[in-house]
Amino acid sequence: MILVYPDLEALSRAAADLFAERVGNAIADHGRCAILLAGGETPRRTYELLADEPLRSRVPWGRLHLFWGDERSVASDDPRSNAQMVRRALLDRVPVPAGQVHPIPGDRDPRQSADEYEELLHRFFAGAPPRFDLVVLGLGDDGHTASLFPDSPVLEERERWASATRRAGEEIGRVTLTVPLINQAELVVFLVAGDDKATILREVLEEYPDPRSRPARMIRPEQGELRWLVDASAARLLHRTGKNGNLAH
Ligand code: 6PG
Repeated sequence: MILVYPDLEALSRAAADLFAERVGNAIADHGRCAILLAGGETPRRTYELLADEPLRSRVPWGRLHLFWGDERSVASDDPRSNAQMVRRALLDRVPVPAGQVHPIPGDRDPRQSADEYEELLHRFFAGAPPRFDLVVLGLGDDGHTASLFPDSPVLEERERWASATRRAGEEIGRVTLTVPLINQAELVVFLVAGDDKATILREVLEEYPDPRSRPARMIRPEQGELRWLVDASAARLLHRTGKNGNLAH
């Protein structure tokens, strides 16, 4: 499903509402809610809105378990840290118990960090399928999502849930969660905004290139749902948007 909003603010409001609704549903269904968070710039406003009323009071923060889709090998207070971004926008302002917040360690070798994170995920899901109730993702202008970059060897991963990786030309390493893990989710939501995403969004959604060259296309929840929340600037080159800009595909 592709939902188009007039601007980033409207998109963020819809995403924050959807987040609150999914948390409520997951907790009603199985008592807790496991969420995989995106870094990048686009979700920042969504996180801020969740920390403000009326949503702040609506979300049972004590039942949330938060994980990250990817992280750079930087210190936890580095501005490039995805954990730091979410902390500033959301976590410093809402009462999620510290033991339920699980950033990917950025202060060690990415291979070690990926191993540790995978172990943590195995402990959390305790033998059950690793089904996140909600996965939030962004779209890079080369078609990457999380730290799944075009033509990267990690795209071939079938077994592991977390892996060390690199972005071509970048000095620091990264850790990313893998396609098979993400595709177990109940709901995956891409948040995409801005003029500079229009070309890649059309390629990913309407031109069907080789998924390895546009890794966001590899995200297809096996039993769950996929939603694209996009703003009008990013959607301007899409052909298949309806009269009011909202079209379910
Ligand atoms: C990161 C992300 C990455 C991001 C996209 C889109 O850490 O950078 O996890 O996958 O979501 O690059 O980023 P923007 O939202 O900033 O455009």
